[in-house]
Amino acid sequence: MITNWKEQTDIITESLWVIGERDKTNGHKNVYHGNFIPQIPRQFIKRFTNEGDVVLDTFLGSGTTLIECRELNRIGFGIELQENVVTLAKEIILGKKDGLFLNTLEKFNLKIWHGDSTDKETHNFVEEELKRLNKKIKLLILHPPYFDIIKFSNSEKDLSNAENIEKFNEMLGSVVDNFLDLMDKNSHIILIIGDKYQNSQWVPLGFYGMQEILKRNELILKSIIVKNMSGNRAKLNQEQLWRYRALVGGYYIFKHEYIFLFKKIK
Ligand SMILES: C[S@@+](CC[C@H](N)C(=O)[O-])C[C@H]1O[C@@H](n2cnc3c(N)ncnc32)[C@H](O)[C@@H]1O
Repeated sequence: MITNWKEQTDIITESLWVIGERDKTNGHKNVYHGNFIPQIPRQFIKRFTNEGDVVLDTFLGSGTTLIECRELNRIGFGIELQENVVTLAKEIILGKKDGLFLNTLEKFNLKIWHGDSTDKETHNFVEEELKRLNKKIKLLILHPPYFDIIKFSNSEKDLSNAENIEKFNEMLGSVVDNFLDLMDKNSHIILIIGDKYQNSQWVPLGFYGMQEILKRNELILKSIIVKNMSGNRAKLNQEQLWRYRALVGGYYIFKHEYIFLFKKIK
C-alpha cells in the first residue's frame, strides 16, 4: 500500500505499460509456456497490499505470483489444476537439489492447493486457511488461459478446454464467485488476459471477461491497462511469415494484452 508516495518511483501510475525485459532475478525462471512477467504481480502487490496481507492466485501456473509474495513478505496462496505444474511451481519457488526441496512453503508463508478454482472444494481450503490466520484476501490475481490459445491440459475443468467463449466466460465468472466472499472490503482483483483471432475475426476476450466480472455488483472497474506483449520465441523466428499473413489477411499482429483492475466495494 502506498504511504510515502514520493519514494515509490517504481510504481507505474499510467495505463500504458511498455516493459522491456522480463525480470529474471529472485529465482524467476521463464520455463512455463503461458507464464506472465513477474513485474505484473509485483506492481499490484506493492500498490494494493501490505506486508502480511493475503494474495490469492487462482491460476498459479509456475508460481510467479508466489515468488513475488515470498520476496515482498506477503502471505501467498495459489491454486493450480495440474499436479505436475504444482510440482514445477514448488521447484521454482523453493529450489531443488538431489531430488529434495531446499525449503518449505510454510517457511515463506505460502500455500499451494492442487485443484479446480471453479470448485467449492478449493473455496473451502482457502476459507479454512484464512480462518486459521484470521485474515481475508486483499488481492485476487486471475491469469486464466486466454481461452484456447494454449491448451494447458486435457481436463474438462481447464478453462482452455471450455466448449466455447460463452462457457469460458461462465467458468471465469465462477472462479470470481468462488472467492468473492473471502475478499475484504476495498480489496482488489486483477484479470490479465489477451484477445484472439477466430474465423478471421478479432475476438475481444479481454472485454468479454471484463463484462462478465462486472456483472457482480460488489465490484467496480478501476482501470484498464494495456501492456506490451513481446512475441514468444516461435513467433519471433517467424516474424516475416506473420507479417506476410497479416498483410494478406488484413490482420494486426497481437502486441498487447490487458490488465483489468477491479475493486470490491461491499
Ligand atoms: C496463463 S496460465 C498462468 C501462468 C502463471 N501466471 C505463471 O506465471 O506461471 C493458466 C494456468 O491456469 C491453470 N488452470 C486452468 N484451468 C484451471 C482451473 N479450473 N483451476 C485452476 N487452474 C486452472 C492452467 O493449468 C495454467 O497453468
